[in-house]
Amino acid sequence: MIASHLLAYFFTELNHSQVQRIDKYLYHMRLSDETLQEISNRFRKDMEKGLGADTNPTASVKMLPTFVRSTPDGTEEGNFLALDLGGTNFRVLRVKVADNGSKKVEMENQIYAIPEDLMRGSGVQLFDHIAECLANFMDQLEIKDQKLPLGFTFSFPCSQTKLDEGWSQGRFEIQYSKVETNYSPRSWVAESVLVTWTKGFKSSGVEGRDVVGLLREAIRRRGDFEIDVVAVVNDTVGTMMTCGYDDHNCEIGLIVGTGSNACYMEEMKNVELVDGDEGRMCINMEWGAFGDSGCLDDFRTEFDAAVDENSLNPGKQRFEKMISGMYLGEIVRNILIDFTKRGLLFRGRISERLKTRGIFETKFLSQIESDRLALLQVRSILQHLGLESTCDDSIIVKEVCTVIARRAAQLCGAGMAAVVDKIRENRGLDSLKITVGVDGTLYKLHPHFSTVMRETVKQLSPKCEVTFLQSEDGSGKGAALITAVACRIREAGQH
Ligand code: GLC
Repeated sequence: MIASHLLAYFFTELNHSQVQRIDKYLYHMRLSDETLQEISNRFRKDMEKGLGADTNPTASVKMLPTFVRSTPDGTEEGNFLALDLGGTNFRVLRVKVADNGSKKVEMENQIYAIPEDLMRGSGVQLFDHIAECLANFMDQLEIKDQKLPLGFTFSFPCSQTKLDEGWSQGRFEIQYSKVETNYSPRSWVAESVLVTWTKGFKSSGVEGRDVVGLLREAIRRRGDFEIDVVAVVNDTVGTMMTCGYDDHNCEIGLIVGTGSNACYMEEMKNVELVDGDEGRMCINMEWGAFGDSGCLDDFRTEFDAAVDENSLNPGKQRFEKMISGMYLGEIVRNILIDFTKRGLLFRGRISERLKTRGIFETKFLSQIESDRLALLQVRSILQHLGLESTCDDSIIVKEVCTVIARRAAQLCGAGMAAVVDKIRENRGLDSLKITVGVDGTLYKLHPHFSTVMRETVKQLSPKCEVTFLQSEDGSGKGAALITAVACRIREAGQH
């Protein structure tokens, strides 16, 4: 309930009927235990649908096989480059992986901006820009004359295909394909075809194309350096790998940042899209698309619908749009406008700034709940948005932020509960101990997100003991680790 107890003590202006009205509007965003259980059950069904060969084509949760079949064994070493595209920042990294018993990973990285017009311009321009940043980074480190192996964390849905043999060694195996390209005739890398752009990207001519090919072509157009692209990974997979390096129980990766998604180790016999029944394979679930079939419609609100309709990809990534950093601020902004129109906020006056899309940043949700002087914080944020607020306004805005972040964390927990329970059932266990590697700005910055999510998982899957391990730079380091393993395997395969 809205902080009525608080109001009773301190504020008299916000009267009982106002509290009731606000509660009525927020009611649909407070998810009951039964609702969460129901969402978790539906999520589980959609996982099965995505895994089945016959049902996959019409499934919204695509359950993409990654051909990553286990986790690093700690014997990898060398110098690698990594690119990380798809989160808050675009980064280029140099990673040194040491095999001196200390499992040491050292990194240097540089953040580069991707201007909005490049995110939505032509694919050629986007990849030229990526190649330019890479060249700049290599110049700085004076390594342009070296042909280093590179891992590409490309955090978008990619359909990866194994065209040829795979190798295995130790705990880790990646199935690689021998792909003929006009640039590097026999390079060992799986083909990674972009299924659809998500989040803020919409470059033309990339969907349906192999992103490694596009990167190689851009580097060739420049002609001033060479690179050995060895692996393309999703950020969830990179995060699972990074945490798996330290914790062998880590078989799930989760991202709650600009977007949201998870991956986990599934039994090969259940992965109908890939031949073979032995062992396990990491599945990039692309869980953000849950609900695109309409199965979440009874829990979505008019505010979710508005955010979806005004996004770059209407109708798509509906679960993600209720959870992740790119959208939560927008949901709050839509609610604030609605409440103001109803005369419940800001004396009924909407500022011009509040009408601007994206102006209410998701980081405000974290700030508002982090501060002990929360109401002052809310006030200064509202002032920045050109809104003259009273104390009551601040209380209401804070409550809206709390409800939206809590719902996001619970939804994430409901998805995660379905995943851990599936893994437990897969293994025929009464109880399962498992670790989830997690990364993403929202998860890291929001003061209550992780607690609420953990509580939800505990409540919905009581037979699983789940540890959440925050990854230190999972996506970048993960790409380098996968590259390291791929190189080790490749070298072993060449002898
Ligand atoms: C989006 C992407 C997905 C990625 C996630 C987190 O959902 O489609 O590939 O893992 O964002 O960055």
